[in-house]
Amino acid sequence: MPITYMPAEGLIHISAADVSYIIHIYRGCYPLHVYYGKRVPDEDVRWYVEAPYRRKKLIENLQPDDTMFLREFFPFEYPTYGTSDFRKPALDLRDAAGSCVTDLRYTGHEIIPGKPALKGMPSLYCETDGEATTMRLDMQDAKSGLKVALYYTVFEKTGLITRRTEIANGGDTPVTLKSALSVSMDFKHAPYEMIQLSGTALREHHIVRRKLECGETSIDSTRGISSHQQNPFIALVQQDTTETQGDAYGLSLVYSGNFVARVECDMYMSARVQLGINPFMFSWLLNPGDTFETPEAVMSYSPNGLNGMSQKLHDAFRTRLYRGVWRDRERPVLLNTWEAAYFDFTHDKIMEMARKAAKVGVELLVLDDGWFGHRDNDRSSLGDWYVAQHKLPHGLDGLARDINALGMKFGLWFEPEMISPESDLYRAHPDWCIHVEDRKRSEWRHQLMLDFSRPEVRNYIVESVCSVLESANIEYVKWDCNRRMTEPGTCSLPPERQDELMHRYVLGLYDVVERITSHFPNILFENCASGGARMDPGMLAYFPQNWASDDSDAEARLKIQYGTSLCYPPVMTTSHVSICPNEQLKRTEPLSFRGHVAFPFNLGYELNLCRLSEEELCEVAQQIEQYKSMRALVQHGRFYRLLDPFSGPHTAWMTVAEDGSEFVAWFYKPEAMPEEAYINVRLAGLDPDAHYENVDNGQVISGAALMNMGLIIDWTVGDDFSQMWHFKRV
Ligand code: DGJ
Repeated sequence: MPITYMPAEGLIHISAADVSYIIHIYRGCYPLHVYYGKRVPDEDVRWYVEAPYRRKKLIENLQPDDTMFLREFFPFEYPTYGTSDFRKPALDLRDAAGSCVTDLRYTGHEIIPGKPALKGMPSLYCETDGEATTMRLDMQDAKSGLKVALYYTVFEKTGLITRRTEIANGGDTPVTLKSALSVSMDFKHAPYEMIQLSGTALREHHIVRRKLECGETSIDSTRGISSHQQNPFIALVQQDTTETQGDAYGLSLVYSGNFVARVECDMYMSARVQLGINPFMFSWLLNPGDTFETPEAVMSYSPNGLNGMSQKLHDAFRTRLYRGVWRDRERPVLLNTWEAAYFDFTHDKIMEMARKAAKVGVELLVLDDGWFGHRDNDRSSLGDWYVAQHKLPHGLDGLARDINALGMKFGLWFEPEMISPESDLYRAHPDWCIHVEDRKRSEWRHQLMLDFSRPEVRNYIVESVCSVLESANIEYVKWDCNRRMTEPGTCSLPPERQDELMHRYVLGLYDVVERITSHFPNILFENCASGGARMDPGMLAYFPQNWASDDSDAEARLKIQYGTSLCYPPVMTTSHVSICPNEQLKRTEPLSFRGHVAFPFNLGYELNLCRLSEEELCEVAQQIEQYKSMRALVQHGRFYRLLDPFSGPHTAWMTVAEDGSEFVAWFYKPEAMPEEAYINVRLAGLDPDAHYENVDNGQVISGAALMNMGLIIDWTVGDDFSQMWHFKRV
């Protein structure tokens, strides 16, 4: 049984694969955190809990009804504030009398096969009840009647654990939630370091690794979306944790709005780790009988370093988060028109590119921004989702038909959450945007955000997007989002409830996306927010593809993609080969280097193929052919990071087929170095006793040699060197 209850000791042991998570119901009253880490046997669980809590002498005789003046020494599973725990609480509220005091006590628990669904928000799922086991741990505050249920689900195959919290007002007066986090966990010994994915537009998901010190180490978003600046993911590691060894704890939030992820180390270097909706700019009125659900947090522990941690997340996000038909399908190689033409295109110009694309083997042509309303630049028309006749006289239907006739699919860009002040929609409904009465509406890229907390706004957008999708054979959608929330205000809520808006917006977004994606189950949806500003598990649940950055420079993407892969699976991350000199950095890199950087992810092209020479077109055609020959392996294999661009001049990674029958590895050296030392890349994830044959030259090498001696890199001069190897098991 992956969840065992030991009533005599009041212990609950959650264990699967190589993971254990242990809770102690202290004096039958308070669920306390005992352990999370490498799997231990049940009998040792009994022994461990005997180990003293700090100040044992003082607390020994403490009865549950005594004032718990020593709460700050207790490792709570879901802490509150107001008595004697002075660390940050998971739950903070004000009752009808304005008091924050809450005393949550254990009332029971239930172990359930499978995983109950979370309504209104995305979450992981299982296909059979045998895949996962869930425990609902119930607590109550006797005075107010508030009921809190903590949900823990453990996945059998990987030991991955999800947590979420349900808060119900079982009393007869309203309470206001000020903070309701998804997960809180008190580690006795703080991990040594925290890793975060930080950045900005064009520099997303850069790895920052910092030492935990006494006090708080945190990241968050206050922008209304998860953000470029911080991704809702942290990893906690020891000093000696590497890609292949040591403890690594990954925590990721299935949520697309304001979040917080923090570690608070106390004076004894015990660490409170928390993840959830950012309490800043949040509150929620819970009337008697109401329930509030937090988003789900995903916790991936591996004793085998960061690769082990990431692989469990990749596996979960790839196979148990997104549900649609594209989960298991190979993804088409696409050509996107954005960097090729921006707003400057016509039917004929697109068709000129399309003919070249079809010739080199592209399978999907995506028409990006500029096809609707009067959209000749970014100053107008968002919200007016009808075709720009002056550019597309045959309509979307005519264009889709012509593209389909070349043997390619047709895809389209939308930015459904936005409204341009210069639009018919704004002229008709100036109050449909997020705004505060009598205050200036800050424009960002000349646009405002629609108020998705309002059902009539959501309905309008669902209907108008659906009617475009029904008007032509559109088989792919790129869903963009190019601004952050300002003047957060809504006409749909009274003044005292305005702080509900930012969460309500996210719930509204999920409602719209759910309705549109389920209405068109065969359409391939890609998520984008000025690049990777909203690449989070909440969006991954609906979008099997995600645009990680608007920086299409191959060298810059090495870091972006390396960091992204810490949490997100390569198949869900798109990467495009673009023009040289590159549009963002004006750098020139060989086509082979650009192709090798995009290959391990989800390959696309974003350049005007009409500007390439015949020789270059030939090379593109060869790249696409080669990619297709290894696509199933690359898109659905197990990804290993080998050389880290953040700590050295080289990058390397590889993908091993799930059945171990073949692998592809890549090495990159962006900058030449004089008289460089020999470089070898040690591979990972192979069978040491098996032999593998190099597909290009027939050389046979053992798994042991490949993983220990490594592959020797060709000695070269010149910048932007890359190498790719494809081996098959013999
Ligand atoms: C921002 C996206 O990240 C780009 O890829 C492109 O779609 C533009 N928006 C279009 O406005």
